[in-house]
Amino acid sequence: MAEATHRRRVFSGVQPTGGLTLGNYLGAVKRFVAMQDEGEAETIYCLVDMHAITAGWPGREALRAATHELAAAFLACGLDPARSIIFNQSQVPAHAELAWIFNCVARLGWLNRMTQFKDKAGRDREAASVGLFAYPNLMAADILVYHATHVPVGEDQKQHLELTRDIAAKFNNDFGAPDFFPLAEPVIEGAATRVMSLRDGTKKMSKSDASDMSRINLTDDADTIALKIRKARTDPEPLPGSVEGLESRPEARNLVNIYAALADTTPQEVLAEFAGRPFSEFKPRLADLTVATLAPISQRMRELMADPGELDRVLGEGADRAAAIAEPILAQTYDIIGFVRSRRMATGA
Ligand code: TRP
Repeated sequence: MAEATHRRRVFSGVQPTGGLTLGNYLGAVKRFVAMQDEGEAETIYCLVDMHAITAGWPGREALRAATHELAAAFLACGLDPARSIIFNQSQVPAHAELAWIFNCVARLGWLNRMTQFKDKAGRDREAASVGLFAYPNLMAADILVYHATHVPVGEDQKQHLELTRDIAAKFNNDFGAPDFFPLAEPVIEGAATRVMSLRDGTKKMSKSDASDMSRINLTDDADTIALKIRKARTDPEPLPGSVEGLESRPEARNLVNIYAALADTTPQEVLAEFAGRPFSEFKPRLADLTVATLAPISQRMRELMADPGELDRVLGEGADRAAAIAEPILAQTYDIIGFVRSRRMATGA
């Protein structure tokens, strides 16, 4: 499949919407860093700002601030521009250009089945933007314009990855270009990294939850983190001795999962240490661990955000390197289709 004809390349994207949480860190960015550090593949991480306007415009300053915040978070969490390509989508036009091609490849019926569109469009589908509907085509373009083979994403993006594979296969087939686009594989997060709300263990931790007590923000200070964990909803039972004992105890399971993810261990190991102990003992330990992990990150984020010019320089440099990979692939795509090539395309510049 992807491995057979294409060299290993990792791509992922995150929307700059502002307000990053512990969930973004444990569920996405931490894994991006691990894949970078493994050094087995080229790693490309994109701030998908063009996706960030599909459900409405946040405003000029807000979008810019969110892009800077996300770039700062990427760097503060350990992504290194010397080892990963880090950039924002709108600086590399090849994404939008390939997305147009995919608008002509993907079928309405395929997009109609996307559950994220249904969720985001809500009741009034007629009022949703065409961009929100075509969102998965742009996502497929993000991935395939690099011939990426592995895509670390959350469980909620699995359907979009399947669509990406369908688009790749249909393009390869219809345009007579076998194996041109790889069938990229999702690298789905483990259960331990799916961080849930601190108020309701059945809901994902989200920056859009009405209650700030439901989440830990990457920019929260130590006292706030400790308070939120102390007040986190739990049940009155002590911690069980095994993971089976966490079934039907979503809040307990969430806190154990968070602890395990932060400590780079398994929920089993955590329970081996805390079996039979009350939450009044577990929570302070979890708070200490969370603060110890996040304090250096939020400190570094603040420093980085104080110098947006430097962030722009890093993103610009990343965009140049991204474009150097994407443009020749787009040029080949255009050639396969039969577009008469412009001078820009012919020189690959
Ligand atoms: N849709 C993804 C999300 O909401 C973000 C995204 C856009 C993405 N383009 C991508 C993720 C390409 C992986 C690869 O999480």
